[in-house]
Amino acid sequence: MYKGSGFLTKNTIPKEDGMDHTLNLMREGYMYISNRCHSFQSNIFETRLFGKQAVCMRGNEAAELFYDSEKFKRNGATPKRVVRSFFGNESVQTLDENTHRHRKEMLMSVMTSDCLQQLVDITKHHWKEMSKEWEQMDKVILYEEVQKLLCTAACEWVGVPLQEDEVSKRAKDLASLFESAVAVGPAYWVGRNSRNSLDKWISELIDEVRNGEVNMHDNTILYRFAWHYDMNGDLFNSKTAAVEIINLLRPIVAISIFINFLMIAIHHYPEKKEKLKSSDDQYLEMFVQEVRRFYPFFPFIAALVKKDFIWQDYQFKEDTLTILDLYGTNHDPNLWKNPDLFDPERFRDWKGSPFGFIPQGGGDYWMGHRCAGEWATIEVMKASLNFLVNKIDYEVPSQDLSFSMVSMPSIPQSKVVIKHVKRRK
Ligand code: HEM
Repeated sequence: MYKGSGFLTKNTIPKEDGMDHTLNLMREGYMYISNRCHSFQSNIFETRLFGKQAVCMRGNEAAELFYDSEKFKRNGATPKRVVRSFFGNESVQTLDENTHRHRKEMLMSVMTSDCLQQLVDITKHHWKEMSKEWEQMDKVILYEEVQKLLCTAACEWVGVPLQEDEVSKRAKDLASLFESAVAVGPAYWVGRNSRNSLDKWISELIDEVRNGEVNMHDNTILYRFAWHYDMNGDLFNSKTAAVEIINLLRPIVAISIFINFLMIAIHHYPEKKEKLKSSDDQYLEMFVQEVRRFYPFFPFIAALVKKDFIWQDYQFKEDTLTILDLYGTNHDPNLWKNPDLFDPERFRDWKGSPFGFIPQGGGDYWMGHRCAGEWATIEVMKASLNFLVNKIDYEVPSQDLSFSMVSMPSIPQSKVVIKHVKRRK
């Protein structure tokens, strides 16, 4: 077929009819793209979302294409309201090319094995401390308690001073950034207010570090980010530095969602819990990987076509909104045998894949937008799983552990309640 821009293409991307499908996306949530891939029998299709033409894709090859920074850009792809509340203005997520790489290098510089070990040690310490309090409580709402735990651990790791009486408020503010990321109406404004309060808190702290008003060791992450220079050799403005500090704190608190799913998995698959008790680090990791693959968290990501190109005989036009389905790729039947079965064993001889297993994005950490905190997430989850399985006993009272495939992020209804917590001797 001859297309006006002068390209010769043989394939037409299957197209969903209709004016706009944003409502379907809201109704079908995590399954929206997979449902259409199934009915078109294609891992790529065209639709209209948010009033615009959009190409949706899933799978290994689609992810490889999506992460080609010659073909796609991020700036302008995510709605401004989401950037203002969830990412923060001028955050690394919105940058491209050299400015992105320079910023990403700063974030990746804190993901060394020593730094990650510190985060794990701090997290383990706080599991121990919090569990002493839980022994005294009638019931523990794990989602909320783990958010406080992770907020305390994240602040300690980064070097952000946090008073005990501040923990609940800061944890709530950080959580509301991801809980309200795609909300509309008043719920969105809860997130925006939290963003304003967090930006103010951390940017003032950065000013204080720069003015020498707080005593801080020069190897803390906060100190290093406070004194980071941009590509032109200018000191970051304190708001931008604050956004990147929050880019560490917020997602560490978000690991609470995965920890809720870890709990649900050990509750629903008791035979696997038994195995976790007697197994080594490898099985812990396999279990964590399967939780990250199986349960819904980050649904998809968006980019814009940089300039016209052809891929697999499909034409992509400049500025087209393109959406990569993360959840759908992790459940793509072409990549995963029995994708809807929870089976940690699938990761036993897993060779790794930068594009086929993408709960936290794909591609390269330094050159692309893949999640800077993926290793941190895995290590914190492993330490938490080990604690839950091997360090405490508890009861799981009857409750609604169901989780939505529509709300984003998906948080189990009961937020996972446990009772009669007892530390093991
Ligand atoms: C809680 C579990 C987490 C999930 C599900 C998650 C998921 C993601 C996803 C899907 C992306 C976007 C990838 C892309 O745009 O291609 C991302 C980016 C990012 N994540 Fe995570 N993440 C998690 C934890 C973390 C942690 C613990 C940190 C830091 C301590 C972190 C820091 C970042 C940063 C800085 C980016 C932006 C990277 C860039 O644009 O280059 N994340 N994450």
